[in-house]
Amino acid sequence: MSNSMWGGRFSEGPAAIMEEINASIGFDQKLYRQDIAGSKAHAAMLARQGIIAADDAEKIAAGLDAILREIEAGEFKFSRALEDIHLNIESRLKELIGDAAGRLHTARSRNDQVATDFKLWVRDTIDAMDAALRELQVALADKAFAHAGQVMPGFTHLQSAQPVTFGHHLLAYVEMIGRDRGRFQDARRRLNENPLGAAALAGTSFPIDRFQTAASLGFDRPTANSLDSVSDRDFVIEALAAASLCAIHLSRFAEEIVIWSSAQFRFIKLSDKFTTGSSIMPQKRNPDAAELVRAKTGRIIGAQTALQIVMKGLPLAYQKDMQEDKEQAFDAFESLELAIAATTGMVLDMEPEAANLKKAAGSGFATATDLADWLVRELNMPFRDAHHVTGRIVAIASERGVDLTKVTLDEMQAVHPAITDAVYSVLTVDKSVRSRTSYGGTSPKNVRAQAKRWQRVLARE
Ligand code: ARG
Repeated sequence: MSNSMWGGRFSEGPAAIMEEINASIGFDQKLYRQDIAGSKAHAAMLARQGIIAADDAEKIAAGLDAILREIEAGEFKFSRALEDIHLNIESRLKELIGDAAGRLHTARSRNDQVATDFKLWVRDTIDAMDAALRELQVALADKAFAHAGQVMPGFTHLQSAQPVTFGHHLLAYVEMIGRDRGRFQDARRRLNENPLGAAALAGTSFPIDRFQTAASLGFDRPTANSLDSVSDRDFVIEALAAASLCAIHLSRFAEEIVIWSSAQFRFIKLSDKFTTGSSIMPQKRNPDAAELVRAKTGRIIGAQTALQIVMKGLPLAYQKDMQEDKEQAFDAFESLELAIAATTGMVLDMEPEAANLKKAAGSGFATATDLADWLVRELNMPFRDAHHVTGRIVAIASERGVDLTKVTLDEMQAVHPAITDAVYSVLTVDKSVRSRTSYGGTSPKNVRAQAKRWQRVLARE
């Protein structure tokens, strides 16, 4: 049997394999809410413009509401033979309200319909991501404030570099996530134009009002070119690009959580809530949640890449290739949502191990830069010379297996006679972080102020 929705010129039904490769209902049923909202807006506009009768529009709206209830109650029977969510809903509408259903598709095509539905879905998803990311920022900023003065090692090349504070480290992620949210908002702004009414590709001869449907669906305006309207998938690629960068940030943090919670580091403790045991090694507490956040990033970046490759060779206008946009995007955003929620959970759960952090902060001669800065400040030495003198003092400490505070004044003066015992006052990690008062620096006072600033900004949203 040919397709009841478009089979007029067909005498035979599709091959089984054709139906299988063609159908998208298995995944695009996720768009049911957006599809119904779009159809209701379209039908109301058609009636207001006198293109269909008001009572037909009412029947259509009531039928669509009934379908929404059926789907949400799990009572709707999705049919693969009907290909996709659009035809499934329209076909059911016909069963429910009869011939009036056939008027809904006036001045519309599935091409502008799917672009509209998917834009609405991406927009809803961006809003959900934004709310979840805000929660993560709140958790990070609160924890940062609580541990603004907790020293820890700062690394470059994963070698001890200079002491920083735990709060400062967490606030770095608040900044990154702030930019991620900004990118999602940028994408949302560009996305928010209504493709509905572009019809198949050329527009329509019916006197539709695309500004009306734009307003009722919360779009800022209609898209200006009908070909572009049905061919554009920038909006989802751009949202996936924002998602990829966000996932990269979460992944870097996840990697740090894995390192920090290892027995060799012991910088943080994660509770039983975010760890798992091993079936053979009784001592183990594995940071699986962090590892999976790290891994899910691959799927998210993969989705962006996959969709870029799908789109790069397509001539205008709609091509069936574009049906491949949804599964990837659904999976990517589901993964990101999960990753954000797991990261927020871990932030709330993690407790810094103060003594270990402090001990580690002082190891690796982490205050060597403070010593060099002291030589510049107190002895008016050029920084390059100070660097060299400090290097020789570090070599002495290293040889003796002690840290810089244990190098004697005699030993220091042997390297440079003008050094006085005032130098010891800058060699502790607490002094070091307290001295980093430049704007954006790690001094606990700065960190507290920045955490407060974020808390205020986030509370106002
Ligand atoms: N299921 C299709 C998709 O997701 C809907 C658009 C189909 N349009 C068409 N002319 N076949 O892209």
